[in-house]
Amino acid sequence: MENFLEIRDLVVEYTQNRDTVHAVNSVSLSLGKGKTLGLVGETGAGKTTIAKSIMRILPDVGARIVSGEIWLDGENLLEKTEDEMYDIRGSKAAMIFQDPMTALNPLMTVGDQISEVLLLHNVKDKKEAMEKAGDMLEMVGIPRERYVEYPHQFSGGMKQRVVIAMALACDPELLLADEPTTALDVTIQAQVLDMIRKLRDKLNTSMILITHDLGVVAETCDSVAVIYAGQVVESGTKEDLFDHPAHPYTKGLFGSLPSMAVGEKRLHSIKGLPPDPTNLPTGCAFWPRCPYATDACKGDSAGGAPGISGREITPGHFVRCLKEV
Ligand SMILES: Nc1ncnc2c1ncn2[C@@H]1O[C@H](COP(=O)(O)OP(=O)(O)O)[C@@H](O)[C@H]1O
Ligand SMILES: [Mg+2]
Repeated sequence: MENFLEIRDLVVEYTQNRDTVHAVNSVSLSLGKGKTLGLVGETGAGKTTIAKSIMRILPDVGARIVSGEIWLDGENLLEKTEDEMYDIRGSKAAMIFQDPMTALNPLMTVGDQISEVLLLHNVKDKKEAMEKAGDMLEMVGIPRERYVEYPHQFSGGMKQRVVIAMALACDPELLLADEPTTALDVTIQAQVLDMIRKLRDKLNTSMILITHDLGVVAETCDSVAVIYAGQVVESGTKEDLFDHPAHPYTKGLFGSLPSMAVGEKRLHSIKGLPPDPTNLPTGCAFWPRCPYATDACKGDSAGGAPGISGREITPGHFVRCLKEV
């Protein structure tokens, strides 16, 4: 296995009332050791579902990984038992969520929460765990004296630092960061991201970073995948995507950004709405919003035309579009 993480043809559905939500529709992604892949796309595109599938933390009821493979360090996570996944979570792979409160227990001191993670995995002794938890707090820029404080005594940015300390406590080789700074003030966002980058470099962590912020992509990622309606519509190196975007959706999102010298950082918004995931259009999922759509794009199945199912325009730069660029 060449890549540290490799996702092949992942399909994930939710059942809601009597409808099937087609959240992830044959996604393939890869990530090298120590590298960072950015996932970008509008709300509802399927980004969180991809990350939760890797961790195998989708809801037990109403969610289903229909098919695909997720290879992490040579092992297919979709073939692991729940017990095996329990060991992998937190030791090999960890996830940081957008809202720090979903990961913190309001009734437990932050230090004990980090200790608990350590004790569940590689540390046997309570005193050693407390000591290491103090080190972790310091690593994320929180004085170790604050070990005994509760989450409500921390600001939003500080809570997210605690969550990051928890996620990194067992030296995960893969970190999934799902909009880790979106809930924070703009000034704090930059600090927390800077910290994540430094820790990643120090620990040689491989990372998937889900973000709406193209400035963050430019500063943090090696490669990028643009997700639309549960599909990767374009992927490649950061330079491919910023300097030579090929898919009309990517061009729209990246707007009139002057290369990577980013002024306006948010994703550009594009006219129209993403399709209803319970009733996806035939052909290319983007055609109803695409200024270049032709009849061929509306074809009767997503796999019908080779361009729609994806092609490599330069080595490592993939696009799902019929339009020649
Ligand atoms: N537990 C769930 N039950 C039903 N539908 C869900 C559930 N979680 C997410 N979805 C739907 O799956 C699609 C993808 O969601 P999500 O992965 O959260 O996207 P993103 O993270 O890109 O915003 C959306 O249409 C969303 O409404
Ligand atoms: Mg999400």
